[in-house]
Amino acid sequence: HSTTKTSPEDLLINYKGMLYPSILCNVEMFQALETFEAREDDLLIATYPKNGTNWLIQILHEMVSLVHNREPLLDATMIEFGNPEILARYKDRPSPRILSTHLNFQNIPKPIYEKKVKILLVVRNPKDTAVSFYNFYNSLPALPSYNAWDSFFKDFMNGKVVFGQYFDFVATWEKHFDDKTMMAITFEEMKEDLPTALKKISDFFHLSLNEEQINLVASRTSFNSMKDKSENTHGKLGDSFFRKGEIGDWKNYFTEDQSKEVDAMFEKYLAETKLGKLLNY
Ligand code: A3P
Repeated sequence: HSTTKTSPEDLLINYKGMLYPSILCNVEMFQALETFEAREDDLLIATYPKNGTNWLIQILHEMVSLVHNREPLLDATMIEFGNPEILARYKDRPSPRILSTHLNFQNIPKPIYEKKVKILLVVRNPKDTAVSFYNFYNSLPALPSYNAWDSFFKDFMNGKVVFGQYFDFVATWEKHFDDKTMMAITFEEMKEDLPTALKKISDFFHLSLNEEQINLVASRTSFNSMKDKSENTHGKLGDSFFRKGEIGDWKNYFTEDQSKEVDAMFEKYLAETKLGKLLNY
């Protein structure tokens, strides 16, 4: 690691063996979350970082605002971020609330699955995820910097990055995947055909958007449209969240060996699973 920014020790916390950004996460909040008051009609987005979180949050806000005739709330934050006082704000939000998390399945608040909250899991090719994450680490002051791609790649593969290891994350969700309360969608299928993906999402959450509304949401959530609005939605961090939005940037970073290493992990943990087949890679 380079030490041009605050030292990694100060930027990261370790909670139950997992790293989190200390500016956003703390132990009190993790404890308070255990009794998070979930509602049956909450809509939850679950993602490993850089898998399309902000894209999906915006999409759901646009959909819900059309269906329920309310202003889209551009509060793109994870339920595990901030201090316990923030949870009081969640209580004031009208249903359906849009929630999002980067937590592994076993760390999400139990009330969420006890109430059978509908969960949309978004997954992205692990190689593009790693490249996006690497650039994100280097562009955010709140995360340690890496001098070289190779050293980030090692930490990514060993789960020494915030929110842990990609394959672990997907495996914990895969284990509890059930078709009634969970739907999975890939970043790649959204890139290839956004309106079709939006229709699936709308149906899953019973939002019943018509074709015109789907097309409106698609145009408002295209990469360029979101990038243009990013100063409003994400302030100075806009450029870090909307970098390229492409499939296949990994080819500009990975060595042949690194690519094989990811393929082997994929083969071992995901190839035979429902989610692995969906990633189809
Ligand atoms: P890149 O770094 O590859 O550009 P997250 O929101 O989970 O942090 O994910 C960020 C990634 O999603 C970034 O990937 C970002 O560009 C991409 N992204 C965000 N909005 C997008 C959109 N509307 N269309 C395509 N990609 C988008």
